[in-house]
Amino acid sequence: MKPLRLGVLGSGKGSNFVALVEAIRQGEVPAEIVLVASDRKEAALLEHARELKLPVHVCRRGTFRTKLEPEIEKELAEALVSAGAELVVLAGYMRVLKEPLLGKFPGRILNIHPSLLPSFPGLRAWEQALQARVIQTGCTVHWVNETVDGGAIIRQAKVPVKAGDTAESLHARIQEAEHRLLPEVVRELATGKIPWAEDPRKDGGRWKD
Ligand code: GRF
Repeated sequence: MKPLRLGVLGSGKGSNFVALVEAIRQGEVPAEIVLVASDRKEAALLEHARELKLPVHVCRRGTFRTKLEPEIEKELAEALVSAGAELVVLAGYMRVLKEPLLGKFPGRILNIHPSLLPSFPGLRAWEQALQARVIQTGCTVHWVNETVDGGAIIRQAKVPVKAGDTAESLHARIQEAEHRLLPEVVRELATGKIPWAEDPRKDGGRWKD
């Protein structure tokens, strides 16, 4: 089977990226990583990528904090296209995507989020879960559209909230689940077990069937 060509975007430590790399190396996911990109040149994710001799792209520094300037996002989208990425995986990428990327990869960008969406979208979802005193939270892999954490849900994993949990202990438990869920979804997309979103921006971000 021809490996699925992945572009990975992240802003932070890159533990989900590492889990994906490991699953590919073990032969569990028929994919190859063709580009690792970050909006933060100091992201540990980039160090991991360089150690692995994977091609990297670092976005130019802009003035906005929550999104990239259209020109900078266009360069990123073009780098992903030139690398031949078929699927873009947001693994801890902290900026909101806009038209330059969404337009180049319609229905081909997924994100992992540390809660059972639609509960607790946005930042520090594990803290939101603790504050809401839920007994269960989890993680979600979903298609990306222009609504933050609002695209069609692909798959979720549940994680219990335990008595005495701190933000750190709960986040760590959610991350363990993420490290299983993300490679599993990429494997099932690569092998055709999960249908691809035709264009998740249509029909309010829901599947068209
Ligand atoms: C993950 O918890 C993911 O759900 C969220 O950002 C975090 C990234 O962690 N979107 P890492 O950089 O993969 O360790």
